[in-house]
Amino acid sequence: MSIPIKYLTVITVFIFCCYSSLYAQSTKPIYLDANKPIEERIEDALSRMTVEEKIAMCHAQSKFSSPGVPRLGIPENWMTDGPHGIRTEVLWDEWKQAGWTNDSCIAFPALTCLAASWNKEIAALYGKSVGEEARYRKKNVLLGPGVNIYRTPLNGRNFEYMGEDPYLAGQMVVPYVKGVQSNGVAACVKHYALNNQETSRMEINVKVSDRALYEIYLPAYKAAVTEGNAWAIMGAYGKYRQQHACHNQYLLQDILRDEWHFDGVVISDWGGVHNTEQAIYNGLDMEFGTWTNGMTGGKSSAYNDYYLARPFYEKIKNGEVEEEVLNEKVRNILRLVFRTNMDTDRPWGSFGTPEHAAISRKIAEEGIVLLKNEKDLLPIDLDKTKKILVVGENAIKMMCVGGGSSSLKVKYEVPPFEGLKNRLENEVEVSYARGYVGHVDGNFDGVSSSQDLAEDRSEKELIDEACTMAGSVDIVIFIGGLNKSRGQDCEGADRKSLDLPYAQNRLIEALAKVNSNLVVVNISGNAVSMPWLDEVPTVMQSWYNGTEAGNALAAILTGDVNPSGKLPFTFNNNLNDYGAHFLNAYPGNDNEVEYKEDIYVGYRWNDKENIKPLFAFGYGLSYTTFEYSNLMANKTNLSKEDSLTISLDITNSGKVDGAEIVQLYIHDPESNLPRPEKELKGFEKVFLKSGETKTVQFTIDNAAQSYFDPEKHEWIAEPGRFEAWIGAASDDVRAKIKFDLD
Ligand code: BGC
Repeated sequence: MSIPIKYLTVITVFIFCCYSSLYAQSTKPIYLDANKPIEERIEDALSRMTVEEKIAMCHAQSKFSSPGVPRLGIPENWMTDGPHGIRTEVLWDEWKQAGWTNDSCIAFPALTCLAASWNKEIAALYGKSVGEEARYRKKNVLLGPGVNIYRTPLNGRNFEYMGEDPYLAGQMVVPYVKGVQSNGVAACVKHYALNNQETSRMEINVKVSDRALYEIYLPAYKAAVTEGNAWAIMGAYGKYRQQHACHNQYLLQDILRDEWHFDGVVISDWGGVHNTEQAIYNGLDMEFGTWTNGMTGGKSSAYNDYYLARPFYEKIKNGEVEEEVLNEKVRNILRLVFRTNMDTDRPWGSFGTPEHAAISRKIAEEGIVLLKNEKDLLPIDLDKTKKILVVGENAIKMMCVGGGSSSLKVKYEVPPFEGLKNRLENEVEVSYARGYVGHVDGNFDGVSSSQDLAEDRSEKELIDEACTMAGSVDIVIFIGGLNKSRGQDCEGADRKSLDLPYAQNRLIEALAKVNSNLVVVNISGNAVSMPWLDEVPTVMQSWYNGTEAGNALAAILTGDVNPSGKLPFTFNNNLNDYGAHFLNAYPGNDNEVEYKEDIYVGYRWNDKENIKPLFAFGYGLSYTTFEYSNLMANKTNLSKEDSLTISLDITNSGKVDGAEIVQLYIHDPESNLPRPEKELKGFEKVFLKSGETKTVQFTIDNAAQSYFDPEKHEWIAEPGRFEAWIGAASDDVRAKIKFDLD
């Protein structure tokens, strides 16, 4: 029987197709095969690349991108600031915004607010959401979060960080990093390390003991790397042991790579590279910045002259540097690409959504801290209150634009006065008086908040107006603080003083005299002094809270939401109450600063020197009250391998639902090396209905008892007596339990 020709053709085509698809499968390059292990894909890609292609990957090609390998279909890397939302698109080689109309993001609260929430689940949600925004905008590296420790309240960038305590920052950074990375977007933890001031930030050499380095300044980075599995880290601008942090042998090679086994990519801060030799050998993988010399002038589009560009290439070509040194960097970069852009399973992200706005609001509501509420002025009693006067520039000022690289172009922003009006419109008459003039400019790199805050009246006229209006209302809510202009909470410079700027102190004192129902809301990313505190019954600490700032604040002021944040750093009365200032160890001389206060940073210094803070680390009030009882430990004698479980009951003894942040500090009464009086080693945020009791459990291991011994270069837990202190704040210890370590 003969087969008709048309069937023969079909059969032949079918066989050909099967064969060619089999053939295609078997010949698919390993680096493109998502089913192959990443390390195999890296080696395969590397083996196909020319030296020129490898060098290209090690440095920027534009302000925020670096090349892939176009010939092999390996995509470019696209970075974005970070850390509070996705930065607007900028021009290829200029900081100015590119003028896109589809890049307005949701701004999340500043990281100080996140830290003040003390809520690890909220940190995970934050990371996941901001990662979704980055993913949708096709960025594969988010430049953040920052975890530089709060050493001085003058640091202009404290608002981008997570406070003064290494344990708190470490616990909060891990879920943030994991959340971002669940989108196939790398978190780039910054600024590693010792970037604790903006004054002389590009050159300052930090002298710090090994003990302070390991106990205070590194733990949050270590947690981000070893527990959060961060895929990227950004070197800081300054120097340590006279080497810039971006190519620092001790920080990057000895500690990050050798001790913590970091397998991600090290990215320089923008313009943080200064030396080809060190950039080649000391652990840096990717160089970013502006022109050849970093932040200032130079040839435009001179990316090929970067330290890790032509100079590096020439050294490889003339045999001065082994190609394997280059390969090591490219492996790290390819690992980043395979983990992010070439992960075919990663989600698609989402951008500017109502869901993200709601999450942003929730974070803000969890981070606002009630500091004083003596006359129970808050929550505002809506039955009794007919008229409210809101005073102060920060009540109307949009804060998402400004602050430096974290500045955001937002889809919308609700300032506090608008939030209050939204909430109270039909119930209470709300009026406004400016009170003071701060910073009227709302522009950054071509992004404008479009607000006209110009004001011609004198200080006296503004105070007089506010006081006259204050005399005839039930409650006055002053909303002031700092802002994100240079010299306040802003990158590139530090604050000059702990005081509130722009005559705000005089204004608050005057208001307190005419109306004793005064609520002061301080918006800042730093502590401020409060010389008027005795005259003001109610004080609230709020933060740069992003898109939904005003609605979140209104919810707290009216009691729709019970405040539950606690301070992530100490508020002191005077600058000299901080170790760095008392010891004259800030901002340093001749580009050198010595951290003379050593491990005694934040509350550790207050404890050592017996300084009563204005408001302590870990402190914050609620509209309800909590009782602590039944503190118990599962054992009182531990071996080094044992972990200790401590439990206690927390009861909401007030009339409204609320949340308490229970803190566990370890006290070591006797040790070979001096130790802080107490160190935070555990915390839990517990939500309780009115009248409800819950048991809180902490499990701590040997690490909680350990200190870093610089001689032995290891963590030591000395046998002997320890105490676990349970507190509602660092200066409010409610119960203690003793245990012995064998
Ligand atoms: C900042 C970084 C930022 C980078 C890119 C630098 O000036 O220190 O935090 O990510 O610029 O904008």
